[in-house]
Amino acid sequence: MAILPIIVAPDPRLKQKCKPVAAVDAAVARLMDDMLETMYAAPGIGLAAPQIGDARRIIVVDIAHRDEAPDPLRMANPELVAASEGLAAHDEGCLSLPEHFAEVVRPSRVRVRYLDQDNKRQEIETDGLLAVCLQHEMDHLDGILFVDHVSALKRNMILRKLQKAKKLGTLAAE
Ligand code: NI
Repeated sequence: MAILPIIVAPDPRLKQKCKPVAAVDAAVARLMDDMLETMYAAPGIGLAAPQIGDARRIIVVDIAHRDEAPDPLRMANPELVAASEGLAAHDEGCLSLPEHFAEVVRPSRVRVRYLDQDNKRQEIETDGLLAVCLQHEMDHLDGILFVDHVSALKRNMILRKLQKAKKLGTLAAE
């Protein structure tokens, strides 16, 4: 396994629409493992392939607490098949927008269909933090960041600060 560099916003690679994988083969499964290792090292609870410069529809998630056993989800081509009318607000952060957080409102319960690490079709229905995390990571696959869900004022403030930090070299950006 390998720890990969995480791309920090603003960056055009975080704004692209990613392509589906044809199948989860050994190379894709290995990438999922590398993404998990990268996510755990950061540390974070979710990571999408475009954040490590791969424009394919792959995400990994693990919301287990640090003192619990790992409970990773590896997903290719995740698809939202149902979302509740009920909404919930959650303070979100992102490994590509380090040290910035904003409240985002999303459907509180979702059903997601995906291919697992063995190329088997799976479905999960969930709420709470996992529902937030899955929607956040799936957004990445369409070039959407959590700041795209907040006011332009707040978004521009965060992106300007990140841009400045990258120029000053105070962030571990590529
Ligand atoms: Ni993110």
